[in-house]
Amino acid sequence: MVQHIGIDLGTSTIKISYGDEKYLIPSLIGEPNPGWGGGVGDKSLENNMILIDGSEKWYVGELARLQSEVRRSLASDGQMKSAEETFIAIKAALGLIINEEDEEIVIATGVPVATSIEVMKNLSKMLKGTLEINIENDATKEKKNISINIKKTLVMPEPYGTYYSVLKEKGADEAVDTVLIDIGHGSTDILTMYQGRPMRTASGSLREAIDTLTNRMAKALQEKTGAIIKPFDLMMVVKKQRDTVMIGGQTYSIEDLKGHYTKQISKVIIDEVLRLISSLPPDAFIEYYIICGGGAYTLGNAIKDAIIEGKLVSSPENVIIPEDPVLSNAKGFEMISMSQ
Ligand SMILES: Nc1ncnc2c1ncn2[C@@H]1O[C@H](COP(=O)(O)OP(=O)(O)O)[C@@H](O)[C@H]1O
Ligand SMILES: [Mg+2]
Repeated sequence: MVQHIGIDLGTSTIKISYGDEKYLIPSLIGEPNPGWGGGVGDKSLENNMILIDGSEKWYVGELARLQSEVRRSLASDGQMKSAEETFIAIKAALGLIINEEDEEIVIATGVPVATSIEVMKNLSKMLKGTLEINIENDATKEKKNISINIKKTLVMPEPYGTYYSVLKEKGADEAVDTVLIDIGHGSTDILTMYQGRPMRTASGSLREAIDTLTNRMAKALQEKTGAIIKPFDLMMVVKKQRDTVMIGGQTYSIEDLKGHYTKQISKVIIDEVLRLISSLPPDAFIEYYIICGGGAYTLGNAIKDAIIEGKLVSSPENVIIPEDPVLSNAKGFEMISMSQ
């Protein structure tokens, strides 16, 4: 039986959808930092992955985030930097989810919209044929060697997964013109689907995303308190949808600050959407606006309101935020791989 896997390569997190199994893996690889393993913490393979590639070893995902001194994020400036490094992370992810020897696999994967065609092509070339995967669990030292046979890999722009899953769920099988706004951590991707195809001139990517919010909040809080605040630490505050932060033992309200920057960033995103769709041919009619990515939790409603107020849609119901905006791309890619 052929296995179907959906992978969404985000700027901060790789999402994997494989039947009932869903994984969120930080988009990081790092150099091994031996001697720090063996604690009493989480011993799951997911959080302790080492990929062994010939004489080289890489920490992948959460292990790289927590233990590697030298680590690299797979994406920067809203695009996947290199096919080779992305390949390392995907191999580890496949080693994590596949348990049977010689399994046949079809993969559909999405990359940020700004990723070069070159990187996309290389990635689909690498992810083909027989792969020998060797991984190790850093906590238990258990090794897993597996050989898989990849029949086909499709590499597409990230938000296409959500387009597919949302339209399928709606039962709309005809290609309806749709604008997807995927608010990630390091970039916001805008994908315009016109007559069932991605339209390059009306699609694009912008740097304003959730890390813009955490960077600006960190700066403002730093000025206010004099303490050094790392934007990264504020990511959890955003994720947990907190309205206060604790700095130096004191609690500060961030409600106004967050509200202020949320509004500003939403405006920038909407302006870019308007600019991009102005290049559409006059016969285009955008039926749906779909807002996805983890940023939809924070910025989704502000952007939705702006789209409705700007009368970009005929009815408010046509602005959609999927039920699980973080996993909607990966789920869609899994469905696409099944359709192959
Ligand atoms: N449930 C949630 N509530 C609020 N924010 C979230 C939630 N899940 C993820 N986020 C935040 O949304 C941002 C974008 O996440 P994601 O779409 O996974 O980014 P990317 O695809 O660029 O890796 C991240 O900063 C993340 O912390
Ligand atoms: Mg994303």
